Amino acid sequence: MSGFALRDDVHTQHHTETSRSPVQRTKDWLMPTSVTGWTMAVAVASLITQIGIIVTGGAVRLTESGLGCPTWPKCTPESLTNTPEMGIHGYIEFGNRTLTFVLTAVAVLMLLAIWRLRATYRAIFWLSIILLCGIPGQAVIGGMTVLTELNPWVVSLHFLLSSFLVCLAALLVNRVGLERRIGGGEVEQVPSLVDGETTATTRGLARAAFVLGWITLILGTVVTGSGPHGGDAEAPRHDFDPAVVTRWHVIPVYLLIAVVIVLLVLVHRLASSQRQRISVWAMVAVIVLQASVGYYQHFNGLPIVAVLGHMLGTGLLAWLMTNMMDRQCSSYSWHDTVVDPRSPRFTANVDPATLVADAQAEGASPGPAR
Ligand code: HEM
Repeated sequence: MSGFALRDDVHTQHHTETSRSPVQRTKDWLMPTSVTGWTMAVAVASLITQIGIIVTGGAVRLTESGLGCPTWPKCTPESLTNTPEMGIHGYIEFGNRTLTFVLTAVAVLMLLAIWRLRATYRAIFWLSIILLCGIPGQAVIGGMTVLTELNPWVVSLHFLLSSFLVCLAALLVNRVGLERRIGGGEVEQVPSLVDGETTATTRGLARAAFVLGWITLILGTVVTGSGPHGGDAEAPRHDFDPAVVTRWHVIPVYLLIAVVIVLLVLVHRLASSQRQRISVWAMVAVIVLQASVGYYQHFNGLPIVAVLGHMLGTGLLAWLMTNMMDRQCSSYSWHDTVVDPRSPRFTANVDPATLVADAQAEGASPGPAR
């Protein structure tokens, strides 16, 4: 289906609003022909659930429930679910497995929400597909963690894939948010995710912060693998000295702080947008929070509530570092139908080529790379 046809759909939708059956109305609500509040709500739900599963996975590890279900995909060789005799650990581990269905439901709703727009909102569509595919991927790695009796490298991989999915969900929310903001409105200039001034330096710093964030996440999992919270009293541990690997984990944090502070100064000197400035301030806030909890847990014998807080912080950091980079470096600028002269959103006698030229002059790189 072409983007042109889609916009015609939207146009007719208003006229047929009252004559549609309840089934048709539900279908149009779940599978809209424009980016709606529902699309945005499901995108935000994707992000929240992806961050949430990091925390609930952490709760499994910290309550030593990692082998609460001793096998996979069944909970025990005989039973799909946990049994009362397995105690609290069985409930916690099986409860976490059950959350996979919540994640799947949200991912399917997201795919449905963009399905009728898939031909033109390609970036959003593909992000939704990858998020959906990530769930079976995570289920399989989750199964491997159980079958390897909580090998710390496999546990790390499980956590890092979740962080990666958080990054993708953050991109999804930004793109849906932009389309939602411009949807239905008049187009005066090409709306772009990068909606304020950037320079090669600010873009480089945002990318550096993203890379440093990832190095911190990876080294953090090595600290965890060397520490006492393996998910089960018998779980294998790395041979590294926890004090030494903690020092390695903190080095990229210091570099990250330096990079983000320089970026903060620069975005206030440039004609940055409010969204760009907020994205950097949000990073400052999450790093301060995360580093404080990190030091607290380190000097206080790793209390599980603090470690859980540190895990929530990692999910938030994965989101916010992606958001900050997206708002400096993204090439996502507008939707095809914006330059469709038959679109209800296209109001003026503006040659599409002019819109493209304007976008390029403003530093946004338009085109298929979206
Ligand atoms: C931006 C800042 C930080 C980020 C993004 C971060 C991220 C992480 C991650 C991803 C983990 C592994 C979680 C897991 O595998 O379940 C971790 C563990 C850990 N981090 Fe950090 N961290 C940060 C700052 C700090 C700081 C400043 C300290 C201070 C010493 C610290 C101390 C620790 C410790 C001790 C662990 C192991 C916890 C355990 O045994 O379960 N972190 N961190």
